[in-house]
Parts: sequence; structure tokens; C-alpha cells
Amino acid sequence: MADAKVFINPKSGSIRITGTVDMVDAEGNLIETMENPKFCGCGQSKEKPLCDGSHKGILKD
Ligand code: FES
Repeated sequence: MADAKVFINPKSGSIRITGTVDMVDAEGNLIETMENPKFCGCGQSKEKPLCDGSHKGILKD
């Protein structure tokens, strides 16, 4: 059973993973282990690959 869950916000495009995630390079070498990371899916974050909240400036209601 998976120990992480992924939620993609359809409005902001942000990608939240609930659980422990190993970040690896192209060869599979561990870079960092993260808890509950939130990734940018809108392309506006200045801290890619993580979401920094910049999507709030482009959302339209
Ligand atoms: S999804 Fe939040 S800054 Fe891109």
C-alpha cells in the first residue's frame, strides 16, 4: 500500500504530496527526503520545483 498521497489543485496547479518523499536525481541517487512537499505546477514559482505561493497572483475567480 502506498504511504503517500498526491493532490493536484485544479485551480492553482499546485501538487501537494502528503507523506514522506525521496527526491532523487536521474540516476536514482537520493538528493533529499521531504515531508509533505508542495510542488509548483503553474510555472510561476521562484523556488522551483516547490510552490512558493506565486500562483495566487495569476488565479482568476
Ligand atoms: S503552483 Fe504555486 S507557485 Fe506555482
